[in-house]
Amino acid sequence: DWNMGDFAQNMIQKIKETVGDKNVLCGLSGGVDSSVAATMVHQAVGNQLTCIFVDHGLLRKNEGDEVEKVFGDEFHMNFIRVDAKERFMNRLKGVSDPETKRKIIGEEFIRVFEEEANKLDGIEYLVQGTVYPDVIESGTDTAEVIKSHHNVGGLPEDMQFSLIEPLRDLFKDEVRRVGEEIGVPGHIVWRQPFPGPGLAIRILGEITEEALHLVSESDAILREEIAKAGLDREVWQYFTVLPNVRSVGVMGDERTYSHAIGIRAVTSIDGMTSDWARLPYEVLDKISSRIVNEVQGVNRILYDVTSKPPSTIEWE
Ligand code: XMP
Repeated sequence: DWNMGDFAQNMIQKIKETVGDKNVLCGLSGGVDSSVAATMVHQAVGNQLTCIFVDHGLLRKNEGDEVEKVFGDEFHMNFIRVDAKERFMNRLKGVSDPETKRKIIGEEFIRVFEEEANKLDGIEYLVQGTVYPDVIESGTDTAEVIKSHHNVGGLPEDMQFSLIEPLRDLFKDEVRRVGEEIGVPGHIVWRQPFPGPGLAIRILGEITEEALHLVSESDAILREEIAKAGLDREVWQYFTVLPNVRSVGVMGDERTYSHAIGIRAVTSIDGMTSDWARLPYEVLDKISSRIVNEVQGVNRILYDVTSKPPSTIEWE
């Protein structure tokens, strides 16, 4: 794509000129937007960029390792992975209210990021993966890609960064095309949206090690089968949830009393509205039998057939 390739090269040049010999910080989540933004800045200023990846332990199976592999091992970025699972789990102990979970995770996230950022010296710029829909939503529609001295919400008052937002004129599909142009791997560029609070809002009730295990293992199977069926670019989001409901089943000669797992798969243009994906029965059948056979403690699979509205995409 000539236009997007051209856009990328111009932007990289612009970042290079603006940053000069200063240092740049980026909070990398492994999502599409922050990944593409970080890669652009890395191509512009190389080692002057440091990325901080806060692993809250609520990511999908293997996701933390995959992110580290791409940005640390393959792209050779200055990449700091903070393993903060224990901190998050401790703060979430006994919490089951959805909004409280979100609030705790958001606060803790900023705290961890801030602690790491404070260890670094001489940072002048902060990269953000803001995209055009965010700009419209926040009502700060200026054409500036690089704004001066903007205090970032949540970071300490004395930490003044200038923001670099290379994607603020782009829609999601354009971000993906830019990502492909500059060599971000397909499995990241085409990654489905994933909420900041992660698996915490896909576990109804308290987040325990067992609950995390059930959700992440079943989700890994679902993703594998959706990819095998060639549906991974068609379905907007697909994941499993733990409704925290147990029911009676039978396995061999024995009665079981185990968890149900819900499957959520939706089509959407922008996440604002959505419809449930008409996954082929054979694909659902394969996913269902694999999950109950491979994930111990699960004996029933449910398929969510509600649109948004009146539902939401996530269950919390
Ligand atoms: P809902 O569930 O409201 O979600 O239909 C719409 C889109 O937003 C994502 N989502 C979140 N993303 N933090 C995020 O970064 C959140 O707390 C959050 N809640 C929902 C959801 O995955 C979907 O793409």
